[in-house]
Amino acid sequence: MSKTFKIAVIPGDGIGPEVINEGIKVLQKVAEQSDFQFEFTHFPWGCEYYVEHGKMMADDGIEQLKSFDAIYLGAVGYPGVPDHISLWDLLLKIRKEFDQYVNIRPITLLKGAPCPLKNVKREDIDMLFIRENSEGEYAGAGDWLFKGKPEEVVLQTGVFSRKGTERIIRYAFETAQKMKKSVTSISKGNALNYSMVFWDQVFEEVSRDYPDVPTYSYLVDAASMFMITQPKRFEVVVTSNLFGDILTDLGAALAGGLGLAAGANINPERAYPSMFEPIHGSAPDIAGKGLANPLAAIWSASQMLDFFGYEQQGRMVLDAIEQLLVEKEVLTPDMGGTASTSEVGDRVVELLNNR
Ligand code: NAI
Ligand code: MG
Repeated sequence: MSKTFKIAVIPGDGIGPEVINEGIKVLQKVAEQSDFQFEFTHFPWGCEYYVEHGKMMADDGIEQLKSFDAIYLGAVGYPGVPDHISLWDLLLKIRKEFDQYVNIRPITLLKGAPCPLKNVKREDIDMLFIRENSEGEYAGAGDWLFKGKPEEVVLQTGVFSRKGTERIIRYAFETAQKMKKSVTSISKGNALNYSMVFWDQVFEEVSRDYPDVPTYSYLVDAASMFMITQPKRFEVVVTSNLFGDILTDLGAALAGGLGLAAGANINPERAYPSMFEPIHGSAPDIAGKGLANPLAAIWSASQMLDFFGYEQQGRMVLDAIEQLLVEKEVLTPDMGGTASTSEVGDRVVELLNNR
């Protein structure tokens, strides 16, 4: 009996369903060529569901998702439903309930991908961001006092636990050690005199367990400059929730734009399903027109293959994306082409056929 992976598919809103369809096509093709299978189960959750049911997902949604091997998500958010509801009640709920404390975002400039920087070689942009995904500045801790009064005060508290800080930094070292790469920590210990001083201290402590892994530590302001002027400095990068959010969008811009940026939300212990998604939103401005670039969703499918241990297949999918970018014949409008979403997906499948 060949292995069957059970995938919960949440296409979501806007272009979510359009790009996820193409990712599924690609995963089906890979399975056909390999000794495993996928079983996809669709969940209709998102903003449309909210409008009908007054909630983003079923009440026992988390329970329903628990038994799957992975979650494949399109995008959530649509005009008419406040963004804090769509984000907190679906995406962040899944990330928190399933303790997906690692957010992995590859920032690799593939051949043929557009890059806004002059004078950099393609190989110079090859980073793997490991962003803390469960606490830090996005812990949701704080207070709002004397609302609307002249003495109004708001507090937004960063939460950095020893457990949370240590496990994300250790994950980065483990990854770097396997890849034989350096680890760069990005923090801000000069100004954030509790949280980031602590972060730097934990980084220093954990690094002692990995004497063979070279380390660098930058302040976030300097790091954002170096990402533009000397991107080659960065290999595996570990950083906090907020800094990682901002810097990975900068990274997405360096490596071909939102249409090419993928992200994985990982529970490394595999006690719960991990979630794979393109990092772009639901793009209401182009939804339903076949204009959406599916490559980010397809790249996240390749991250799923890696996560299941099929790194060779993951690599094959990435190579097919790269070949398509080099050919420049079948691309969506955001990449300067005239092809539709499904034509791009079909072309990736064709390229896989020839491998
Ligand atoms: P967005 O990423 O949806 O769109 C930004 C711009 O990039 C738009 O002009 C869009 O047309 C373009 N774009 C995005 N993905 C594209 C693709 N695959 N191909 C071609 N063009 C693409 O961000 P925006 O407009 O700020 O947010 C729209 C909605 O999506 C909001 O409700 C927001 O909350 C939600 N959102 C959801 C995310 C998620 O589910 N992970 C992430 C970011 C935003
Ligand atoms: Mg973001």
